Amino acid sequence: MQKRKLRIIRDFDDATEIFAKWSPSEIFRKIFHSSVMEALSLLRKNKEINVLEVGCGHGTWFEPISKLDFSKKIEYVGIDFSEKRIGAAKKLFKKNKNAKFFVADYLEFSSSKKYDLIFFIEVFQYADKKDFAKFFKKTKGMLKRDGYAVIIDKDKYSAHSLKVSLGKLFKKLPYYYRHVIYPSFSSLEKLAKAYGLKPVKRSKVKEFNAIVMKN
Ligand SMILES: C[S@@+](CC[C@H](N)C(=O)[O-])C[C@H]1O[C@@H](n2cnc3c(N)ncnc32)[C@H](O)[C@@H]1O
Repeated sequence: MQKRKLRIIRDFDDATEIFAKWSPSEIFRKIFHSSVMEALSLLRKNKEINVLEVGCGHGTWFEPISKLDFSKKIEYVGIDFSEKRIGAAKKLFKKNKNAKFFVADYLEFSSSKKYDLIFFIEVFQYADKKDFAKFFKKTKGMLKRDGYAVIIDKDKYSAHSLKVSLGKLFKKLPYYYRHVIYPSFSSLEKLAKAYGLKPVKRSKVKEFNAIVMKN
């Protein structure tokens, strides 16, 4: 387990430069808007909005958040267990006082704060299925009452997942795909309910799936 985690961290550290040049496609942005941004707009009346992004990489998704007309109310924390990717995020957003980036594994992350919104974009595909329950238990404990959690990923039972499995088998994909195993969204939904999070929205844009849960 630890070995797998260390390999994932090494691959993301090594690929930091490659990812820093990447920006999300239109369909990726679309699902982000219909899940994460929609949850944020439901929180806009709050005095302060505490947001935690797990596996934030170089901070791609903080950028649209920082452009919201109520962004001044948002206290954003991004964590990632790749030190290099967090280094890239810190460099990119050094002028944004309401964004903080930390190197941390979510399952070991401790915070004195609770959050109004916690989101995971393409993070479950790197988690061990055996740890999924721990992710939900942790999220339940870190959310404020009526807070939201959002997961965006690709579904295990999809043509895209099959394509990636074949790509891995025939070594047609870049090295950082080797650890990818997509989660089943129906299992995620069951786990959410089991850990006291109410699924309030499921959406799909091409290969991307999203689930919004409420505490
Ligand atoms: C595919 S990248 C996605 C990055 C970002 N969410 C995005 O959409 O641009 C997955 C990221 O999750 C991070 N990650 C995976 N599991 C993690 C965990 N348990 N704790 C913290 N970071 C994690 C990886 O280091 C990697 O940067």
